[in-house]
Amino acid sequence: REKVTARRILKMKGERPIVAVTAYDYPTAWIAEDAGVDVILVGDSLGMVVLGYPSTLQVTLDDMVRHTAAVARAARSPLIVADMPFGSYESSVTSAVESAIALVRAGGEAVKLEGGSEYADRVKAIVDAGIPVMGHLGLTPQRALRIGGYRPRARGRGEARELLLDAESLVEAGVFSIVLEFVSEEAAEIVTRRLPVPTICIGSGRRCDGQILVFHDIVGLSRLTPPFAKKYVDARRIMLEALSRYAEDVRAGRFPSEEHVVHAKEPLDDLD
Ligand code: KIV
Ligand code: NA
Repeated sequence: REKVTARRILKMKGERPIVAVTAYDYPTAWIAEDAGVDVILVGDSLGMVVLGYPSTLQVTLDDMVRHTAAVARAARSPLIVADMPFGSYESSVTSAVESAIALVRAGGEAVKLEGGSEYADRVKAIVDAGIPVMGHLGLTPQRALRIGGYRPRARGRGEARELLLDAESLVEAGVFSIVLEFVSEEAAEIVTRRLPVPTICIGSGRRCDGQILVFHDIVGLSRLTPPFAKKYVDARRIMLEALSRYAEDVRAGRFPSEEHVVHAKEPLDDLD
């Protein structure tokens, strides 16, 4: 398959829906690659989904670098976008550019950061450094302490207008796409229509240019699944059954069996 670039994603707007999914490690990135997705996001949701933290606020740049590198070793065609974690871009434009560079050196081909016009200067500086940036508006989990938890956004005119203004300022700063998380379908539709760059939505309805879901939500490996996610398979049940059978087999002396065994190539009895 042809390599997907940030430019290619930009051009997909109005052409066909963009398919994005998270992955945090080698086996899941390998599956996403073979499923033919356009974008793999190494999301900071990894903090909750695979590191067991209570939120994304605990995730460090080192965590993101390590997981981005693992994904990059498995995925060839999809665009690899690395999330900029909490603490890696807020304090200054310089810290933002340095963090983005670290993620690119790890194998990221674009970065994503949360926030609107208040971070437009960071977005522009990162783009000026040659790194494509994806925006993230609506429910922004890194700001959950301030915005008061995980409730849907832009259901009223005030928040919808704010969303549109933030989206426009990100476009002006140079983003190639914007994630809209948990906003009303109506607001997402307006933003999608007004922007020249694609919207990639999660929990934001059907009128977007693309969709993104968390890998572990799709396959049933998340402990907490948001209401807008769709579980296509119950991999936890399949894995639990396999592990339980393995434990039973070991306890019953059924594993390993002859096919899993290597034999000595000469008699060893005299060593006994
Ligand atoms: O970290 C993540 O998984 C994300 C997606 C929900 C867009 O940012
Ligand atoms: Na994220």
